[in-house]
Amino acid sequence: MAESMRGLKRSYRCAEVTEAHIGQTITVMGWVQKSRNKGGIIFVDLRDRSGILQMIFEENDCGAEYFAKAEKLRSEFVVAVTGRVEKRSGAANTLLKTGTIEVRAESLRILSESETPPFPIEENSKTKEELRLKYRYLDLRRPDIQRNLMTRSKVAILTRHFLAEEGFLEIETPTLIKSTPEGARDYLVPSRVHPGSFYALPQSPQLFKQLLMCSGYDRYFQLARCYRDEDLRADRQPEFTQIDMELSFVDEEDVMDVNERLVQTLFKEICGVEIALPLPRLTWKEAMDRFGSDKPDMRFGMELKDVSEVVKGCGFAVFKGALEAGGSVRGLCVEGQAGMPRKKIDALVDFAKGYGAKGLAYLAVQADGSYKSSFAKFMTDEELAGLVQAMGGKAGDLLLFAADKDKVVYDVLGALRLELAKQLDLIGEGQWKFLWVTEFPLLEYSEEEDRFVAKHHPFTMPMDEDLPLLDTDPGVVRAKAYDIVLNGTELGGGSVRIHQADIQSKMLEVLGFTPERANEQFGFLLEAFKYGVPPHAGLAYGLDRVVMWMVGADSIRDVIAFPKVKDASCLMCEAPTPVEEKQLEELGIAVAKDPAGEETAGTERDK
Ligand code: AMO
Ligand code: AMP
Repeated sequence: MAESMRGLKRSYRCAEVTEAHIGQTITVMGWVQKSRNKGGIIFVDLRDRSGILQMIFEENDCGAEYFAKAEKLRSEFVVAVTGRVEKRSGAANTLLKTGTIEVRAESLRILSESETPPFPIEENSKTKEELRLKYRYLDLRRPDIQRNLMTRSKVAILTRHFLAEEGFLEIETPTLIKSTPEGARDYLVPSRVHPGSFYALPQSPQLFKQLLMCSGYDRYFQLARCYRDEDLRADRQPEFTQIDMELSFVDEEDVMDVNERLVQTLFKEICGVEIALPLPRLTWKEAMDRFGSDKPDMRFGMELKDVSEVVKGCGFAVFKGALEAGGSVRGLCVEGQAGMPRKKIDALVDFAKGYGAKGLAYLAVQADGSYKSSFAKFMTDEELAGLVQAMGGKAGDLLLFAADKDKVVYDVLGALRLELAKQLDLIGEGQWKFLWVTEFPLLEYSEEEDRFVAKHHPFTMPMDEDLPLLDTDPGVVRAKAYDIVLNGTELGGGSVRIHQADIQSKMLEVLGFTPERANEQFGFLLEAFKYGVPPHAGLAYGLDRVVMWMVGADSIRDVIAFPKVKDASCLMCEAPTPVEEKQLEELGIAVAKDPAGEETAGTERDK
């Protein structure tokens, strides 16, 4: 039977008890990690979020009644134990922070009993993630996950302190907002009061934070919940948290400055690493040319080389064709891998195809200086020597080449570079390679929509020197946008915003908005900009991603208390679920039937 806590007060968390407390009588409360009855003496490991402390029950100390109660203890019972802190009578347990002490129990209350849990509550669980997520409340008892969430809390608190010191105000923005089709897909919430109308959950507080700038709150931040209905990956969730900020009367240098110092503070306090400032910067073009990625992992070399000039006149049709079509030929020099077996090279070719390559040309420089290659026969010895030299290749190296449109070449070699680093174990532990990527393209051409779309969002300011090109060649206009990257992950991104009405209308025009549609969607922002808008800029981090790096988690799910799985469902509460007919009626919503006559929306879950 569950007992109450009447008259009891917890003295410490389990692992807060130290040798300094020896001799004191204390009360600790927590879950039974394990209990061992050695006949006349019972050892109980008591666990709470701080760690484990050993209790020792002997009839002489605690009396027959409590001893009998202690005999009933099972894993995950919740108990309160009062007793004296002593030096351990047995050998010290070096694995425990409290390994040199124990509590000689004098009394015991069973606050609640527990059924046998579906999996053991332990560090580095081998239990399948599906089962863990179904019983997430038990999974959350595991020490590794508890440490992750404690780190997350610390990051949030440090961020608040840091930004408050820097003059930022924490202001909440609404989460039932208006749907705008730019960006990812919205999550929609039907309105009961306005049948047929929907709110959207925010993909970010973007428009609201810009409005706050118009209202004079010149430095804003928020730990903001954001919702995006997009395909999930290891570092993406449908709902996630941003450290979001916006500043007035600043340019990109000011935003970068305050954020470099924020990142420096967080990583020093949490991980004990010293990050040298200022952070390195690469323009987007440089990042693509050297790493084939706008979020380059700088923990290892193996940079891309552009050999278009070198192979220009050669007889290899693949290279020639790509160049004639306006593309490029670029390569990677994989040091010491000339002996890579054919099967492995073929697998790399398949890998490259997965990223849109039509193929992958290779050339292995043998120890004797001869070549093993898929294309050497199409080139003269001089051409080959020139190519190897341009790649910085030497005997023993494997050279891989992609020839295509720039975008494909970057995608393929960027991905291949990362894949090879993984396969060849090129990434040394303990590195923190931060950088800014700047001067992003303002626009991206969407083949699907047959128009330009904003690469960041429609309110991002073009670079001053590129402004005239907005009319003539919008595709090459660069933006005052910046991403902060760590070890190949985009931690955050932001931009200077457009605050001039004429540039904003031009931008919306390039994006294919008619004035009516622009007005319909962002009218309130455009209107606000008529009443005195300060120049402003901002940035947002993915808090989950920041914490992932800090704790070394492989999955974003390990740093979120109640995450969703790949199909965006929650295995524990089983959301999303169909709702009652009555609820749908109230909302004026009918669920469409598919041709087989089965209901589709709201009833079927992608298991
Ligand atoms: P952006 O869309 O780049 O910018 O988002 C900012 C950061 O949020 C994180 N992030 C995610 N994290 C987890 N799951 C997701 N599905 C997900 N999507 C994004 C990333 C990303 O860098 N309003 C702008 C910011 C600004 O301009 O101020 C914005 O939302 O770490
Ligand atoms: P076990 O691995 O089950 O033998 O448990 C070892 C733990 O029990 C250690 O933490 C020891 O401190 C404790 N232990 C086992 N036997 C004794 C004993 N006779 N006296 C004191 N501690 C003991």
